[in-house]
Amino acid sequence: MITVVGLDGGPLGPRAAAALAQATCVAGALRHLAAVPVPAGATRVVMGDLAAALREVTGHSGPAVVLASGDPGFFGVVRALRERGVHPDVLPAVSSVALAFARIGVPWDDAVVASAHGRSGRGRSVRRALAAALAHPKAAILTAPVSAEPRAFLPALLRAGRDVYVAERLGAPDEAVVRVTDAADAERDRAHPNVVIAVDPERAVAPAAAWLPGHQGAPDGWALPEADFAHRDSMVTKAEVRAVALAHLAPRPGTVVWDVGAGSGSVAVECARFGAHAVAFERAAADCRRIRGNAAAHGVAVRVCEGEAPGVFERVAGLLAPDAVFVGGGGPGVVAAVAERFRPDRVVVALAALDRVRTVYDLLEAAGYEVAGTQLQPSRLAALPDGSLRLAATNPVTLLWGARSTAAA
Ligand SMILES: C[S@@+](CC[C@H](N)C(=O)[O-])C[C@H]1O[C@@H](n2cnc3c(N)ncnc32)[C@H](O)[C@@H]1O
Repeated sequence: MITVVGLDGGPLGPRAAAALAQATCVAGALRHLAAVPVPAGATRVVMGDLAAALREVTGHSGPAVVLASGDPGFFGVVRALRERGVHPDVLPAVSSVALAFARIGVPWDDAVVASAHGRSGRGRSVRRALAAALAHPKAAILTAPVSAEPRAFLPALLRAGRDVYVAERLGAPDEAVVRVTDAADAERDRAHPNVVIAVDPERAVAPAAAWLPGHQGAPDGWALPEADFAHRDSMVTKAEVRAVALAHLAPRPGTVVWDVGAGSGSVAVECARFGAHAVAFERAAADCRRIRGNAAAHGVAVRVCEGEAPGVFERVAGLLAPDAVFVGGGGPGVVAAVAERFRPDRVVVALAALDRVRTVYDLLEAAGYEVAGTQLQPSRLAALPDGSLRLAATNPVTLLWGARSTAAA
């Protein structure tokens, strides 16, 4: 039998103590092996290389204990054991995330918890954890030494106005839970293991009665009517066009979506409602203010960047690379800059001018995208004075979308 024992700095419970006393093999990180009474004759397996350590534990014929931090069923070793066909007895301790929120006295059923562990390509582990944390009012990030240090997250979270904490070595005698307030502090080395907590001070205690932890899934409606957004001279992507655009942008927690030539910011707002970190680009200050207002009215965070695209892309420091980009304004020059320089997985372009369709199609294809498109011209039902219905045409728009083969990964 393999028993997994979680450690949180508190005393071992009676079941954990008994399992340990009987164990003839005990595996764990050095700090965990040092924290408990390992029986004198037991084989000690230091967990550095997880696969090798688990081979040794699963090959052991007597009772074995695997020591792990917090709740080993939460981003922990229980998954790896089950993947190997082992059904362990699990004795959890308090998760580091629960402890970190407890230390700052904040409820966390409404928090997203993002693990930055893992080896997905193009720095995705860090980027998606940060994107999820920036899009949500309350987040915990499970960091990792070297590949996902707190400094990879803290500056952007501070810039976004979050209250930011690093909870270091929870449960250990040298535990420290520190509030980080300035940029220099954000870059400091931190003791491991640690958890980063980011809280929007205005939404630290959400009034809504949460029933589903973390992100609430798809919003309670999308492709919202134009009337739901303040706009200038009807400069707002029509609901029907937005519906198709959203389908091809695939906004969700952990993704970064840019809305370039954002107009009212309706696309950015809708992407944020799906849990993406949304960034809106507009050239005029008044339009940028309107976008901020629309984001606030919908209760979502949208980062707004004022300036002329594509030049403005260079000026915005610390911007996360986009997974998907909607180009609602700016034309082929902006599409080319996006496709060639940022290489997002998905690009969606709305064009009114027909002569640009071929140009944009070709440049997306040349940049390695699989391109498709459609013309959309919604004809909406409208009432005639006698009460009968007519079709009221809106302006035709050509929507092009390009996807790289990695988009589905
Ligand atoms: C693989 S996850 C394990 C999580 C664990 N199962 C739990 O419930 O706490 C490892 C990450 O958890 C966090 N962590 C684990 N123990 C911690 C501790 N004592 N203090 C702070 N963070 C800790 C760190 O972010 C670390 O990189």
